[in-house]
Amino acid sequence: MSNKKMGMYNEKVMEHFTNPKNVGVIEDADAVGTYGSPVCGDMMEISLKVENDVIVDAKFRTFGCGSAIASSSVATEMIKGKTLEEALKLTNQNFVDELGGLPGPKIHCSVLAEQAIKNAIYVYAKEHGLELEGLKGFDPDSEFEHDDEEEEEEEDL
Ligand code: FES
Repeated sequence: MSNKKMGMYNEKVMEHFTNPKNVGVIEDADAVGTYGSPVCGDMMEISLKVENDVIVDAKFRTFGCGSAIASSSVATEMIKGKTLEEALKLTNQNFVDELGGLPGPKIHCSVLAEQAIKNAIYVYAKEHGLELEGLKGFDPDSEFEHDDEEEEEEEDL
């Protein structure tokens, strides 16, 4: 396939954009998390199936762009089989690295996946009375309130 018109995106990004993994909703999900980007206004929803604190399934759906789709495709693949604590350690930068990079202006799109995953784990932890190290300082209500580019903080990790 020629990617001439898509030259700013590498082949792996294109592959996950055109053939994304884990699209949809888990019917009997144990937790669902959402996130709305303060940068572009797009939305992401992540549903999780959890057994013994391990993520056994993850699906996403989004109003976001191709970069959000590609990021969420790799993100959901990466968190499957991980414990909740392990998944909380993954940042949008890990997803971007797994994709082999995104164009600079599209980095914020990968934040949707990270934040929606964190929100879903937060919901799960709350419902099950779990105290998770990775959720310390996490504020699920900050998602729609900040209109600055706070997500850049996430890239320092
Ligand atoms: S522009 Fe909104 S998710 Fe990419």
